[in-house]
Amino acid sequence: TSRPRVLSGIQPTAGSFHLGNYLGAVRQWVALQESHDAFYCVVDLHAITVEQDPKTLRQNSRVSAAQLLALGIDPERSALFVQSHVPEHAQLGWVMQCLTGFGEAGRMTQFKDKSARQTADHVGVGLFTYPILQAADILLYQTQFVPVGEDQRQHLELTRDLAQRFNKRYGKTFRVPEAYIVKDTAKIYDLQDPAAKMSKSVPAGMVELLEDPKRSAKKIRSAVTDAGREVVFDVVEKPGVSNLLTIYSALTGRAVPELEADYAGRGYGDLKKDLGEVFTEFVTPVQARVAAYLDDPAELDKVLARGAERAREVASVTLARAYERIGF
Ligand code: ADP
Ligand code: NA
Repeated sequence: TSRPRVLSGIQPTAGSFHLGNYLGAVRQWVALQESHDAFYCVVDLHAITVEQDPKTLRQNSRVSAAQLLALGIDPERSALFVQSHVPEHAQLGWVMQCLTGFGEAGRMTQFKDKSARQTADHVGVGLFTYPILQAADILLYQTQFVPVGEDQRQHLELTRDLAQRFNKRYGKTFRVPEAYIVKDTAKIYDLQDPAAKMSKSVPAGMVELLEDPKRSAKKIRSAVTDAGREVVFDVVEKPGVSNLLTIYSALTGRAVPELEADYAGRGYGDLKKDLGEVFTEFVTPVQARVAAYLDDPAELDKVLARGAERAREVASVTLARAYERIGF
């Protein structure tokens, strides 16, 4: 195919995706399938950089895959797979580790942030080398574009450096990937603290796709809003209301000014109540599709096996070429 190749991954650690994962990432993955040759993976190798319960991890990987399918990833068009089913990730990961400087890895700010809260003996080396495995994930597929948020920019730079270093040392082997800046991707903020991004590490202000929608609606109703009463998009003065408008607009496809006009003369309460209903309407069929996939484990296994097979067709060729160049 001549369509540009994209690759992206999502961790299965939480089980349920949150609204930020969907509006900031998965929704764009679904759109990219139309125009790109897409590889999407549930990155369970990355998940074990922190301790995981085996049963929970296995289940969460399936639940993550089921959510991707339910949200619109089409396994006929995209290769949807679980990272550990494709052993080439770990194999190329080792090669890339040997190519990375210790100081270079040490400059990754996400590691510094994540490890800062723990003592050195409680931080696995895997958390330190995680961006290097991520580089292998990307390079294995000769990926042209990687949809990345701000927090992943430095990791993509590392990937590019490693590709160039390998190519220079051993001859051209890897395509040097580029960041894909997704248009109208929404950054979603915490409902209780609209200064912070919605994140699975702060459950209180997070809306989960797989929780009871009644609970979500309640969280939305009790979202922190701002002084004043007018429903106006203003990220500085009204970050809470603006966040709700962003979500509302993303879920309905209605432009923010149109929503502002709609709520003129009405208060925050109406906005929150309606958004709870909008979310419920969106998520109810999604949950039903997730349940259907989870109720038919054989079918889900088949989809994931086919995805892994497609991934391996590409990954094994890249790995073999790299191994040959290295002298294996
Ligand atoms: P978390 O930040 O909750 O740990 P992940 O790091 O697993 O979530 O994020 C998976 C994907 O979802 C990434 O592409 C990330 O950029 C996106 N994402 C996560 N949180 C948000 C958010 N609040 N708004 C927009 N996108 C987000
Ligand atoms: Na994150």
